[in-house]
Amino acid sequence: MTEALRSDEAGIARAAALLRGGGLVAFGTETVYGLGADATNAKAVAGIFAAKGRPRFNPLICHYPDADCAFADVIANDAARRLAALWPGPLTLVLPWRDDCPVALLTGAGLDTLAVRVPASTSALRLLREVGRPVAAPSANRSGRISPTDAAHVLADLEGRIDAVLDSGACPVGVESTVLDLTGAQPVMLRPGGVTVEAIEALVGPVARLTGLAGAVRSPGLLASHYAPELPVRINAVAVGADEALLALGRPLAGAGLVFNLSEGGVLSEAAARLFLGLRWLDAEAARCGLTRIAAMAVPERGLGLAINDRLRRAAAPRPGSGV
Ligand code: TXA
Ligand code: MG
Repeated sequence: MTEALRSDEAGIARAAALLRGGGLVAFGTETVYGLGADATNAKAVAGIFAAKGRPRFNPLICHYPDADCAFADVIANDAARRLAALWPGPLTLVLPWRDDCPVALLTGAGLDTLAVRVPASTSALRLLREVGRPVAAPSANRSGRISPTDAAHVLADLEGRIDAVLDSGACPVGVESTVLDLTGAQPVMLRPGGVTVEAIEALVGPVARLTGLAGAVRSPGLLASHYAPELPVRINAVAVGADEALLALGRPLAGAGLVFNLSEGGVLSEAAARLFLGLRWLDAEAARCGLTRIAAMAVPERGLGLAINDRLRRAAAPRPGSGV
């Protein structure tokens, strides 16, 4: 049984007690729901990999209530200290472990770096304070599937496999955190996300972008096929086929029968917040209407558009075992 907890004082206290006892608790953050475990408890962390069906080589992000707690576990450099101005917020920093870091090695999947973040969600921050230990949390979906942006999405994937979900409503940002590697001479963006490159560059200067195969090697989670709905996805569509449902941005393409509009006004923050909901909704509705594919309209490659396009490209990537 998976307990559904409200994000009031009693719910947060229960969630914290479950985490301290080695349980698995999903909780809302500003980006997506995370599947949390006490990062210092190797057995609990192993439970995350099992519940998600996640490959053991893919490291997890550790969550903290503030920058001081995060930098007690990793070695912060100048850039990290400057970027901490964006915390709490959707930014994850990859830094070397400290020798005395109590986090279980499995959390970092054996890498010599650890990813740390301070989420900007009141209930998540209260939970992290109450747990009093770093909380390892990947997105609370089955591996390879669409990330959850509300508690019902979490239960659809993980009901019965985790101890509880702390329901804090819909996630306002809607795409995962930006992952930034700070171990080299220049910051490297491993995953575009909720904090824009523009905001990062304003604090630390030019950021290198890692894409394709190089990205997958540096950040093992960045496998091509990911965020996959059941139906095949086609991106940058300029026309809609008779067998296609449409993921629209701005004015929908003509001729589409079934449409989910990410943002009628073309506002990228609204589009990001609705992206995963839209993919889930189209997946379910298209099947009901006898449609067999999802066509997605182009999204501008600026600001949050980088994160949206990254997720859409992965949703559209050839899938293992599909033969394409
Ligand atoms: O917004 C988010 O980041 C959400 C919420 C729950 O915080 N979490 C999340 O976790 O998206 P996950 O596990 O779905 O994605 C984490 C990404 C993966 O691509 C993983 O490979 C990468 O971060 N990562 C984690 N630790 C790393 C490390 N030490 N070096 C390089 N990449 C790392
Ligand atoms: Mg994920």
